[in-house]
Amino acid sequence: MRKKIVAGNWKMNTLPAEGVELAKGVVAGRGEVCSCVNFIVCPPFTHLAMVAEALKGSDVELGAQNCAAEAKGAYTGEVAASMLAALGCKYVILGHSERRQYYGETSETLNKKMAQAYANGLTPIYCVGENLDEREAGKHFDVVKAQIEEVVYNLTEEQFKNLVIAYEPVWAIGTGKTATADQAQEIHAYIRKVLADKFGAAAAECPILYGGSCKPSNAAEIFAKEDVDGGLIGGAALKAEDFLAIGKGFQK
Ligand code: 13P
Repeated sequence: MRKKIVAGNWKMNTLPAEGVELAKGVVAGRGEVCSCVNFIVCPPFTHLAMVAEALKGSDVELGAQNCAAEAKGAYTGEVAASMLAALGCKYVILGHSERRQYYGETSETLNKKMAQAYANGLTPIYCVGENLDEREAGKHFDVVKAQIEEVVYNLTEEQFKNLVIAYEPVWAIGTGKTATADQAQEIHAYIRKVLADKFGAAAAECPILYGGSCKPSNAAEIFAKEDVDGGLIGGAALKAEDFLAIGKGFQK
């Protein structure tokens, strides 16, 4: 049985006090959703300590949106994975398309970040996904395959057991344009096959989340697909009610 996960990527949104309110709202309503769903919130770095406090005593888990490629030292403005772990983070999003696109993150950097995450007991939520040109050119399978081969294939079998993948087509992020449930299933199944080519049966246990304009009105249909194990939610994670309603999309 694969884990069912609904993770909120708050991106660069909310002031700290608003983030605490949002987290409290998720905690308050969490009981209305099946306990089989694992909720994760990923606030900005500045909110982590306060949000950790707000989550105390609940099963809602904490994640960060990024971590440094190095362990510590003279890297002004960077935040080490060890610091995130010390604040109670269990997860870290790595390789989000916004990081790849706006901050030039390459597979080389991501390999280092993954190593830092594992060295500090964090589970990476590793993002893959093609842009619109690539989708229209029919290259989406090759794109996600390369993103997996260049990074995930470098993991040990032990590390792979602690990995979450998020498939986020860039053309669906923040655009209101969602992949259809069939499109999601098609590429999720493909991703699982690429994982199985390297890690064998363990690939059947790896949660693969869908991300990109996922909202209460479309979550149930997408999550009903065999190889979709939940969602990485942007905009709709900024309202506790919507975020929780997405969790209710799990009917299997
Ligand atoms: P939206 O849900 O706002 O499209 O964002 C998806 C995303 O990028 C989550 O990481």
